[in-house]
Amino acid sequence: MKTVNSIKDLKGHLAQERLKTKHIGFVPTMGALHDGHLSLVKHCVDENEVCVTSIFVNPTQFDDKNDLTTYPRTLDKDSALLETAGCNYLFAPSEKEMYPEPDTREFDFGNLACVMEGVHRPGHFNGVAQIVSKLFYAVGPCKAYFGEKDFQQIAIIQAMVERLNLNVEIVPCPILREADGLAMSSRNVRLTAQERTQAPRIAQTLKESAALAPDKTVRQVRDFVTHTLNNEPLLHVEYFEIADRHTLMPIDRWTDTTRPIGCIAVCCGNVRLIDNIMYNV
Ligand code: PAF
Repeated sequence: MKTVNSIKDLKGHLAQERLKTKHIGFVPTMGALHDGHLSLVKHCVDENEVCVTSIFVNPTQFDDKNDLTTYPRTLDKDSALLETAGCNYLFAPSEKEMYPEPDTREFDFGNLACVMEGVHRPGHFNGVAQIVSKLFYAVGPCKAYFGEKDFQQIAIIQAMVERLNLNVEIVPCPILREADGLAMSSRNVRLTAQERTQAPRIAQTLKESAALAPDKTVRQVRDFVTHTLNNEPLLHVEYFEIADRHTLMPIDRWTDTTRPIGCIAVCCGNVRLIDNIMYNV
């Protein structure tokens, strides 16, 4: 695996690769890699001749500066994991490289950005679209891999690809979970031992809620999840929405969609965790 820090070098290497293959796959990350990320890399390695992974903690997508400063950074360990996973190029640019001048682009994602994470993390998706578009221009992948834990992020990136007419297929990959159900996340390492014992309640409660639908109403299921989790001493539900998987618009009745999804953000102590569940109704 080659580690590259500049866009110019990356483009140079990939131009050489393109003489031999058309299949360049890409996994954008912010590092602190866990098995969830490595499963994206595995999909990418299996489906493409060349796999590029980026590690860049993107400042423009953090609405909370404390979250940005405390975001785990483990480049040496990440690099070793990527090498073992069969990645060909690690792109690890500096902030100056990605933002030689401030990115003033404002994306309008309409309703997609006006719900859930879009409401609770103002500016977050604009920052995601800024960096992911820059990374797509730098790598020029035919496929890019994203985890379904960030379900709304995938919808936003898909919309961005359509708006900018980019020629890249977005490949959503299933959430990877710890044995107790907790969705894998780079932020999990920041949980205290006590928080770590409560965090799996999020996934467990979502699973329990799936057994209630569609006999209980959407509102009853929403209340069940919110109340159950808020009763745990270290958990605080920021939002829980049941929405259509495509438009992400919240639903009031199960018959409002054939594809409902429940999306949640919970503060576990000082750590903000997200998760989701698909309802089969
Ligand atoms: O999902 C992430 O880790 C980030 O939002 C991404 C897509 C790498 C952009 O910084």
